[in-house]
Amino acid sequence: MPKPIRAVAVCGTRPDAIKMAPVVHALRNHPAFEVRLVATGQHREMLDQVLRLFSLMPDADLNIMTPHQTLAEITTRSLEGLDRLLHEWSPDVVLAQGDTTTTFVAALAAFYRKVAFGHVEAGLRTYDKYQPFPEEMNRRLTAPLADFHFAPTATARRNLLQEHIPAERIWITGNTGIDAVLWVARQPYTADDPCLQRALSHSGRLVLLTAHRRENWGEPLANIARAAHTLLEQFDDLLLVLPMHRNPRVRQPLQAILGEHPRALLTEPLDYAPFVHLMRRADLILTDSGGVQEEAPAFGKPILVLRETTERPEGVAAGTAKLVGTAPEQIVAEATHLLSDADAYAQMARSINPYGDGRAAERIREILLRELGGGEL
Ligand code: UD1
Ligand code: UDP
Repeated sequence: MPKPIRAVAVCGTRPDAIKMAPVVHALRNHPAFEVRLVATGQHREMLDQVLRLFSLMPDADLNIMTPHQTLAEITTRSLEGLDRLLHEWSPDVVLAQGDTTTTFVAALAAFYRKVAFGHVEAGLRTYDKYQPFPEEMNRRLTAPLADFHFAPTATARRNLLQEHIPAERIWITGNTGIDAVLWVARQPYTADDPCLQRALSHSGRLVLLTAHRRENWGEPLANIARAAHTLLEQFDDLLLVLPMHRNPRVRQPLQAILGEHPRALLTEPLDYAPFVHLMRRADLILTDSGGVQEEAPAFGKPILVLRETTERPEGVAAGTAKLVGTAPEQIVAEATHLLSDADAYAQMARSINPYGDGRAAERIREILLRELGGGEL
């Protein structure tokens, strides 16, 4: 019996858990792997929501989150905690996804302990250091530390090649977030939350809004809220659903501007399953989220991206996503166009899946199996 491949999967935030869950399950479903899951706890409630849905229990939880945490605090606390665990466990490979601070720190901790690091969702870039902040630098700094680069798309692979990452260390796998969203969409679901029931039974049109990015804190977020308010005034059949990120800096301007509007439904962050069902029901999605940009096209939902740049150009190229920034006039103009012109709407409301086919985690498992020498068991 060959030795098992000992993998440590690390997650800290909501998107980390969503995108790592399929990988953890894929590895655990194969006898060659022994998998431990570590939560840094960079997020708390929003992380736990996802772990519950995917029936995942961390083997260790660093529980680092504090209100108003700084980037330096996240970095130092999770680095020390991960370093201790890697020392104790001596795994063969550490895996983390994307561009959160948890991910960058996981790569650094693995490097310090000379453990191989596999980067899930590698190679996304805007090439603007501050957009998104700090994610662009998190993912760029992770790349030279990684040994396995699991690129979701051909564009991501090209970015990595341009940075002199050896071609033989890059694999195009698709994005594991698509594995997750397709899995959730297949599960039976009953809307038991009253807020969600109202949204799902609304007879008019539904606009779904999420916003949380650091570079949008302050005036840009207030502008996003003002634009949403104008749209509600312009279209009296619209219901706006806004699941708010837990960060108080994010909530304050949204609540101040939209909190009193009778057709603005401001909610706590939704569990992933209800959120997915809400995306499917939505007529239009406004967001600065990374993951939502990947998921919305799978359901044929037009998406206006509330950012100046995107590392996910595939949706824009396919014509199902549009970068609109955060100027209220621009958001209102683009949304009004889509809500008033059926042809323009139909052109954007096409179902495409440039980010994955739902089998990314399986591919990652096969690559690790081959590369780490476990071979067939
Ligand atoms: C983090 C990631 C970002 C990702 C986002 C997903 C970094 C630097 N940022 O940003 O890339 O897009 O998660 O949502 O890695 N909070 C809670 N409960 C929670 C989660 C957050 O109360 O479950 C509050 C806390 O006050 C916390 C604050 O939100 O201090 C900010 O959380 P943090 O992880 O620092 O930043 P995000 O903006 O969530
Ligand atoms: N999401 C969720 N509940 C919500 C809002 C978003 O489950 O109330 C999911 C969404 O479907 C996507 C992920 O969270 O998979 C995106 O997380 P977020 O926007 O916080 O982070 P980003 O992707 O921008 O890093």
